Amino acid sequence: MTRHVAPDHGGRQWWKSSVVSQIYPRSFADSNGDGIGDLPGVTSRLDHLAALGVDVVWLSPVYPSPQDDNGYDVADYCDIDPMFGTLADLDDLAAGLRARGMKLVMDLVFNHTSDEHPWFVESRAATDSARRDWYWWRPARPGTTPGTPGAEPNNWGSVFSGPAWTFDETTGEYYLHLFSRKQPDLNWEHPDVRHALHDVMRFWLDRGVDGFRMDVVNFVSKDPALPDGLVAPGARFGDGSPHFLSGPRIHEFLQELHREVIAPHQRPTMVVGEMPGVTLEDARRFTDPDRREVDMVFQFEHVDLDAGASKWDARPLDLRALKASLSRWQVGLADRGWNSLYWNNHDQPRAVSRFGHDGEHRVMAAKMLATVLHLHRGTPYVYQGEELGLANVAFGHIDDFRDIESRNHYAEALAHGADPAVVLEQLRARSRDNARTPMPWDDSPTGGFGSTRPWIALDPGHRRTNAGAALDDPDSVFHHYRRLIALRRDDPVVVHGDFTLLLADDPQVYAFTRRLDGVELLVLGNFGDDPVEPALPDDAAWTDADVVVGTGSGVSLGPWEGRVLRRVH
Ligand code: NOJ
Repeated sequence: MTRHVAPDHGGRQWWKSSVVSQIYPRSFADSNGDGIGDLPGVTSRLDHLAALGVDVVWLSPVYPSPQDDNGYDVADYCDIDPMFGTLADLDDLAAGLRARGMKLVMDLVFNHTSDEHPWFVESRAATDSARRDWYWWRPARPGTTPGTPGAEPNNWGSVFSGPAWTFDETTGEYYLHLFSRKQPDLNWEHPDVRHALHDVMRFWLDRGVDGFRMDVVNFVSKDPALPDGLVAPGARFGDGSPHFLSGPRIHEFLQELHREVIAPHQRPTMVVGEMPGVTLEDARRFTDPDRREVDMVFQFEHVDLDAGASKWDARPLDLRALKASLSRWQVGLADRGWNSLYWNNHDQPRAVSRFGHDGEHRVMAAKMLATVLHLHRGTPYVYQGEELGLANVAFGHIDDFRDIESRNHYAEALAHGADPAVVLEQLRARSRDNARTPMPWDDSPTGGFGSTRPWIALDPGHRRTNAGAALDDPDSVFHHYRRLIALRRDDPVVVHGDFTLLLADDPQVYAFTRRLDGVELLVLGNFGDDPVEPALPDDAAWTDADVVVGTGSGVSLGPWEGRVLRRVH
């Protein structure tokens, strides 16, 4: 049998067969006893990642930052915050990864800087400052008194509650911030801004990093008129997104960045665009290799399916909608482009609580979710702790939360009369802090994270669920992830095979096939508490198929069970 393997453009597309591990450094491992994870901490735990078998580490931001948004507010793009270590520590980490055959991807936050970045400090100093136009400054709305409610230049709301504008006394103008008021948006219309950002990328490439994850990069091109957005019924602010989401010059900007920085670089890189609200049609353009923009996008359609009017209004997931969404992206990016595959990251509640079961079936559900995700076509991402099947945390009080988005939402909702108990319930289900508790390494009082009280509470569940225990247990979620990652490495059908969704209308079973040159995989996942006997078109053909991942045989599934079957035609 001849094996067909899709061309990988002379090794430049190494990321197609890779699995990425995302590290949130402040919550991974604390080496110096200050309660905050750091780079030497990450380096000390690389054997865990090597045992898992991942190929790439994506590091959330470690740059100097006032930490208003845990480092997504950058005050210097070319250094390391002392809280995390030094540039030498970063080099050590990169060397440790290289020694284990892994690559390093840095997180670039280029839509905005910190308000403490020297560029913004200079920009805000005077209306004729040389860097004034590096940010979006506007006078108050005509006919209003600057600095009073409603005088903002337009009606956009910030992602982190409140208006997207802050009044600056020094010059009597407002600056735009789609996120917190300490995250002013850069003005990419200005060529010097783009060139300065290109230099940042060159700095890191020259230092040996292998690629970038680009934070909300589809927000960087804005309609310079910054028009008001539509106000939905009951909403306090207008929706500015039509004026900055995949805005007028976004493709041009990304092509320029590729031409100036990525193409001239000798070693093949991986560039991932984080793109909230991106459409499949746009993602095809962003990831078409011939257009030279980014290698893959991080899209949010599937993790937005259980949201109501806002992310805080959770509603039950309809599995049919999840299947329809993910399979549409599989088909849409089959011939051109490429998918990122993820359930979790540092902005999402834990998937096992959200899409699975975090009670008696937690381990089964975590494994099943992993099986379904990792057998799709694309590059899978494993967010720290996902490989242990970590669940959401039952934070008791608002003071237990650290995340600016969660705290601002609580304050704003209460200011508008919401019941604190109801808002706390929302936070428990949806807060980003669910993903940010310290990584549990062992069952000691500090969970092996560090020697002191961490910056955010450790989940008491670490006594039972921790990396040490998982490594010792051949049936753990960890070893299940390890097997899935090994299967991707060993069987080309996982990377290159085609994708066909089965049982699209079944509300409980996720089923699909992958095929490549006579090899066929059947992937099954039971999203329910009851056993199920899926009515597959040719189930008899699978009765004696090899079980390559999971337990049992054939197509019937126990509660939350997943399985991968393999046959050769
Ligand atoms: C997306 C990041 O993932 C998130 O953590 C951050 O708050 C926003 N972008 C703003 O940078």
